[in-house]
Amino acid sequence: MRHFIDLKQWDKSQLHHLLQLAQELKSGNVEPSLAHYPVANLFFEPSTRTRCSFELAAKQLGAEVINIDSHLSSIQKGETAIDTALNLKAMGIKIFIIRHKQNDMVQQIADALGNDVAVINAGCGTKQHPSQALLDMFTIMGHKQQFTNLTVSIVGDMLHSRVTYSDVTALQILGVKQINLVAPKQLLPELTAKNIHCFDNINQGLDNSDVIIALRIQKERMDHENLIDYPEFIQRYQLTNDRLQLAKPDAIVMHPGPMNRGVEITDSVADGKQSVILQQAANGVFCRMALLQYVVDASIAI
Ligand code: CP
Repeated sequence: MRHFIDLKQWDKSQLHHLLQLAQELKSGNVEPSLAHYPVANLFFEPSTRTRCSFELAAKQLGAEVINIDSHLSSIQKGETAIDTALNLKAMGIKIFIIRHKQNDMVQQIADALGNDVAVINAGCGTKQHPSQALLDMFTIMGHKQQFTNLTVSIVGDMLHSRVTYSDVTALQILGVKQINLVAPKQLLPELTAKNIHCFDNINQGLDNSDVIIALRIQKERMDHENLIDYPEFIQRYQLTNDRLQLAKPDAIVMHPGPMNRGVEITDSVADGKQSVILQQAANGVFCRMALLQYVVDASIAI
């Protein structure tokens, strides 16, 4: 068994291989392969999409899934996340799907558990959400011929967004032409590469885009809430129908969720013809099925 912590563990052909496996799973061409595997969803932060789609993915592959709600667990009595995981391993859990607010905690738990079980990163800290990036790439592939001629614009609070870092990593592995990061200066991350361009003007940042990814303001990860002036952010950065006209006519609109409607995105864009936001949620199940197969089947993507 093996862990899946960071997209950087894959090269381009491995990432394509996983995306292809997700496509086969979506087409119904793969037999369930995790029959009776004990899987634990261990979320130390709230989640709707990631937790539910991992649970559905595991069940569709025949696994037995338990969900640990950290608010109802012995974490509340002072137990560490590592001790919780070690106790679950002692009870027979083989696959751990973990979300944690600390950047390195999923890796720390994987190190403590060892290689006879698998750990999957379901989002940690502000830097990594690799299964989200996988489903985002899968969704883009469903609408665009190739990555190498795409301009992808990410708009919103990128400084506190684990999705930004993982999406940028995946887009770079796949050789995307250009990445536009669009945000007020205080919410821009430190990401530099020849094809990464930063904009504090949304009109410039959306110009000629093929893919737009909107992100919410992640105030739960901010040191102080006053970092952002909401009315000003809405006025200058909200994704509206008028602003969408600046992108290519066949541009797709994405959002990892949860959305804050009326803040980073209007209802008409979120529910509009160019939105693929619910397709992302649907595709998440197949991508997470592929990841679950990857961690138990060493023949995949090596
Ligand atoms: N995109 C995402 O991670 O959503 P959840 O927090 O609901 O899992």
